Amino acid sequence: MIDEKVMEIADELAELQRGAEILEGEGKSITWDQEHGDELMCNLKGPLQIPWMYSRKCIFSCSHCYNFSDTDLEEKDNADLGLMIERIGECQPYNVCLCGGEPLAWDPLFETVARLRDRGVPLVSIVTNGYLASRDALARLRDHGLTTIQFSVDGIDAESHAELRKVPDSFEKALRAVEDALTISWQDLSVCMTPTRRNIGQAKDYIRMFAEMGVRHIRFQPYMPLGRGALNAAQLQPSDEAYLKFHFDLYDAQVAWPDIFVDWGDPLEHLWFYSFTEANCWSTGISPNGWLELSPYIPVRLGDIKAHRIEDIWAKGIKTLWHSPLVRRLAGHVYCTDALADQEVDVFKEPPLHIDVFDPPQWEALMTTDDLDVFRRFTASNLAAGSA
Ligand SMILES: C[S@@+](CC[C@H](N)C(=O)[O-])C[C@H]1O[C@@H](n2cnc3c(N)ncnc32)[C@H](O)[C@@H]1O
Ligand code: SF4
Repeated sequence: MIDEKVMEIADELAELQRGAEILEGEGKSITWDQEHGDELMCNLKGPLQIPWMYSRKCIFSCSHCYNFSDTDLEEKDNADLGLMIERIGECQPYNVCLCGGEPLAWDPLFETVARLRDRGVPLVSIVTNGYLASRDALARLRDHGLTTIQFSVDGIDAESHAELRKVPDSFEKALRAVEDALTISWQDLSVCMTPTRRNIGQAKDYIRMFAEMGVRHIRFQPYMPLGRGALNAAQLQPSDEAYLKFHFDLYDAQVAWPDIFVDWGDPLEHLWFYSFTEANCWSTGISPNGWLELSPYIPVRLGDIKAHRIEDIWAKGIKTLWHSPLVRRLAGHVYCTDALADQEVDVFKEPPLHIDVFDPPQWEALMTTDDLDVFRRFTASNLAAGSA
């Protein structure tokens, strides 16, 4: 019986392999398959998912913002926009998430969404605080091809939300944006809440409130003591006991509302899986200066996408990069959320490490050492050369 099953799977795999070879022969990339994802993912030539932090420019300056997005950042120079879209399009990702910063505050948002879709990206998503998401802006986003939208709403009342967002009418506007977005058809519409000491006990009411509004996907991710989130962790970060109760609440809510997808995002598991196991990697990010970022939560960037194709960086071996001594050192340090706050490369005092994997001495160092000072020197010269 088991033998039969094994033979069946082997036949299916052979079929998939043949299909993949035909597609490759036609110059197309291999499509991910739900059932045999792992077998296909080791053949990926580029990421399926690209979180592109186009800019940290924002209209808020939230107390918890992990990447220091802010209102006083200058408008980004869009000179490289066409090149970046070209680079992304040619590696054929399945989903590009425009992260920030606040996407609705960026001049070229609509154009970028449309151009990514024109280049064949099936899903283009944003996460937004909803403040500028008027009915008209939402309809235009959909018309330009946006498929997926997530609204950050941090609690069930204005006080809880404003504790993080610091803008008095931000809650009211976010709720109105969710209501307006619900009148439009999306591949996925979700809301997300960052747990704090004040709002963590509201999880069930939060799920009820949005379920009654018609939202079907509700996401939570732990408070990360990173960036401004580290500065304000003492006041905001929930206790372990509060998280324990919260997880029971999520379980109860899932039982009470089985048709709602209650989503718990773990920001750290990918660091462990990709650095210390053979798990296949299917996502890499792009930072605002156009460098490839393995993870938004460890300060290392590995090549300038303006100068190199994303597939060429992947061809170096994405697992080789994740398993390099330096990346293992940085990722291994972050074994729990609290450890995000005291990383060895201090995001308050120094830039993220920038290592050009196409420069032979830098590549050699990446493959052989985890000496931070070696990489700090490379970073200084890469930044001084203006390549970062
Ligand atoms: C960086 S924001 C960018 C999108 C948009 N400006 C917004 O706030 O929705 C993306 C998501 O990260 C969440 N976030 C920011 N800092 C965080 C932290 N320290 N811990 C957990 N989530 C955080 C935000 O609440 C938001 O849901
Ligand atoms: S969390 Fe979002 S809205 Fe708040 S500062 Fe960061 S990017 Fe801006």
